[in-house]
Amino acid sequence: KILILDFGSQYTQLIARRVRELGVYSEVRAFDMTEAEIREYSPNGIILAGGPESVAELDSPRAPGCVFTLGLPVLGICYGMQTMAEQLGGSVEGSHKREFGYAEVGLDADTALFDGIADHLDTDTGKRTLEVWMSHGDKVAQVPAEFTVTASTPSCPIAAMSREDKQFFGVQFHPEVTHTPQGQRILEQFVVGICGAETNWTPAQIIEDQVARVREQVGERHVLLGLSGGVDSSVVAALLHRALGDQLTCVFVDNGLLRKDEGEQVMETFSRHMGVRVIRVDAEQRFLDKLRGESDPEAKRKIIGNTFIEVFDEEAGKIDNVDFLAQGTIYPDVIESAASKTGKAHVIKSHHNVGGLPETMKLKLVEPLRELFKDEVRRLGVELGLPADMVYRHPFPGPGLGVRILGEIKKEYADILRDADAIFIEELRRSGWYDKTSQAFAVFLPVKSVGVVGDGRRYEWVIALRAVETVDFMTARWAHLPYELLETVSNRIINEMEGVSRVTYDVSSKPPATIEWE
Ligand code: XMP
Repeated sequence: KILILDFGSQYTQLIARRVRELGVYSEVRAFDMTEAEIREYSPNGIILAGGPESVAELDSPRAPGCVFTLGLPVLGICYGMQTMAEQLGGSVEGSHKREFGYAEVGLDADTALFDGIADHLDTDTGKRTLEVWMSHGDKVAQVPAEFTVTASTPSCPIAAMSREDKQFFGVQFHPEVTHTPQGQRILEQFVVGICGAETNWTPAQIIEDQVARVREQVGERHVLLGLSGGVDSSVVAALLHRALGDQLTCVFVDNGLLRKDEGEQVMETFSRHMGVRVIRVDAEQRFLDKLRGESDPEAKRKIIGNTFIEVFDEEAGKIDNVDFLAQGTIYPDVIESAASKTGKAHVIKSHHNVGGLPETMKLKLVEPLRELFKDEVRRLGVELGLPADMVYRHPFPGPGLGVRILGEIKKEYADILRDADAIFIEELRRSGWYDKTSQAFAVFLPVKSVGVVGDGRRYEWVIALRAVETVDFMTARWAHLPYELLETVSNRIINEMEGVSRVTYDVSSKPPATIEWE
């Protein structure tokens, strides 16, 4: 396995994902890990990741000294290369000028890291080059003793360096991003070729490990899980069911703000098909009552969150002998909260819905997805036999349709929205656009607009369609859906449904517009 030391770059998680895609387990830890912790983790090699700070400044972070004395291969990327250079006696030159974008680096000397890897070969000079993605201000000005420069560009004369006998390597560019075409091969060369890490991190292996761990943690006792129908809690349910069978009880709260037929699908998949014990609580009326008269988005979110906790708590109280609460926490949540503690990463908070549950319930936590990235969770779900369209479903916010009905929530609005949304999603799937968009949904606008039907005018509601493309959900571009598709969706909604006279398409990008309308 590989250890990745984090200096706060937004790319650090990506490095871990890339390494895991190679089938090698890796973890991201804070740069100030102690020698004892590193020894205990016992990696085959260490990657020093990037960071936003400047090595030229005195109080900027450094790798623990032992990184260079444990006898392990080390790869420094960007800031990681700079701190390696500085800590081993070379020097780094500060600069306020950033180099950002594509560069073609010439490979100057033989190094195990680029062994057999190149994008172009100049047959006259025998010179090999690589296309890479650069994003840096500072750069290494002088390599440490015994190091050689292994790649360069005119503006970055030390674009890579190495000390082959110690297996220390540094690259100024970013092999982890897809803009560096050979990046994955370079990482593979380091992780597998140089470090000799085992490639056993496969979905089947992860499941086997987690099943054993959960059994050991839980023993003969009982686990409770709040099943929402979302990807994470669904995969947790399938995994725990495999590990624990009847020792698992799921509570599925239907808050009346779910998508069309969602409750049925959850019961069908888990209860009838897989034999998981699921208690379905029909709490629609209770949620609607609590929400009556409230039109402020944040207040609605709070009401929905608190009512969920109330209902879940009540149901849990009816089940005897529960000792554990399972949660679908995934690795990015773990890294994010660790990073916000050290204050190194520039993080933007995500939305959390069921915070507060464990404290009130005094249950121990079972979190079998804590070490997994979203794409790994999905692959696990498929391996566990969950339907692919459930596992690859777009994300759905915890407050559900509650934030897609603008202003006050009424059952009538939710019913209209459900039908319109179902038509939109059906057409997206039919046309192949569902998988090309990251999130798509309908929004209910509580305004009436004029329409003409036959000889008569009618005043009916307005539905907005939203579809976005994004990688991280922090920025997003509105999806350029074909006009024909929008036309089909619009026609179907207006013709097949009562109560809608107009359909609009949202062409706002994030920022400044958020993905949801509330
Ligand atoms: P925004 O609207 O902030 O959404 O651009 C970014 C992502 O977060 C989801 N989202 C939520 N998820 N509870 C959730 O669990 C919420 O209150 C919430 N609000 C937004 C949104 O669907 C998108 O994927």
